[in-house]
Amino acid sequence: MTISADVVVLGGGLVGLACARALARAGVSVALLERGSPGAGASSAAAGMLAPLGDAPGPLGPIARAARDDWELWRRAIEEESGRKIEAGADGALVVALDDDDQRGLQEIAAQAAEIGEKVEDASLAEIRRRVPDLSPAVHRVLHLPGERRVDNVAAVAALTIAAQHAGVRLEVGFDVTKIELPANRIRVHARDGRIATAGHLVLAAGASSSLPSSSSSSGLLLPPISPVRGQMLRLTGVRWAWDGIVRRPSLYSVRRGESDLLIGATVEPNAGFAVETTVGGLATLLDWTRRTFPTLGDRVVTASWAGLRPATADGLPLVGPLPGDPRVIAATGHYRNGVLLAPWTADVVAETVLHGCLPERARALDPARFAGP
Ligand code: GLY
Repeated sequence: MTISADVVVLGGGLVGLACARALARAGVSVALLERGSPGAGASSAAAGMLAPLGDAPGPLGPIARAARDDWELWRRAIEEESGRKIEAGADGALVVALDDDDQRGLQEIAAQAAEIGEKVEDASLAEIRRRVPDLSPAVHRVLHLPGERRVDNVAAVAALTIAAQHAGVRLEVGFDVTKIELPANRIRVHARDGRIATAGHLVLAAGASSSLPSSSSSSGLLLPPISPVRGQMLRLTGVRWAWDGIVRRPSLYSVRRGESDLLIGATVEPNAGFAVETTVGGLATLLDWTRRTFPTLGDRVVTASWAGLRPATADGLPLVGPLPGDPRVIAATGHYRNGVLLAPWTADVVAETVLHGCLPERARALDPARFAGP
């Protein structure tokens, strides 16, 4: 079977879905090719933090901030288009310090906040203890980042899948890419089961797997390397706080979910390859952190644990824009720890790139051409 479209998007995570929806709403015909089911990778494994501070180095800081500012409007649009709710919390984030390392991390976050004009304030310990009663008595300082947000990323995948299809996106699931051909007329993407998708543009949004189709390409598609960095997570239930947001120490974090749940994340494992597994050591790290930060949660039930793969580039910045070797291919990948946050922003940039034929200036720092040799 041959699928023909103006643009094929490779990868049905939040970034790929958001790109496909934005393009379809701009009047472009789009086929979205997904190896498994939508959001099956990092998009569902994430905790849904919209946190521009801490994980966004250098030029990514202002981009992350702009992306956070636009998320709420985007969330409401997706809710309306899909008829589905996407839970969100507006309390912001608390960064708490238990030891000297945490204290140094707090100072770094405060400095980064000042640099990008993000609001940060010292919080009253008494007030915080009232809202987070399980917080360790050893916490001696708390920063409140009122601008940070959390969303239910799993609900966002479900709603966005519907919204994209309503916009006209053709969704092809189980599309396991074996080869990408780039002849002068039409790009051709082959699946293991014989399906072929042809298009004028290809958006590469396959997260940690983005390098795989390119390595199997007969035409030598030049995508800068992307490597998987595993993150393990777990979920507790029975947490009743008046605080509806994020509590983190500079290293790990907890994020409220639903009425009484808490997500705890995440390990950072660059040497685990593509193994999407939880391990004794990984979960022990999360549980140790939980017990030290919230000592009275020891009797709560762990309801789930899982792992996901963050797509990392050599300089820690995403790859967004046309590939120097063939500008018909547009990268929308390498978002590392910021995929949920940057999905709507990336979609706008990718849609503009396809429609106007060049990368908008605001995305220049993420241009894949930065890796091109002389
Ligand atoms: N965005 C949080 C993480 O990657 O762990």
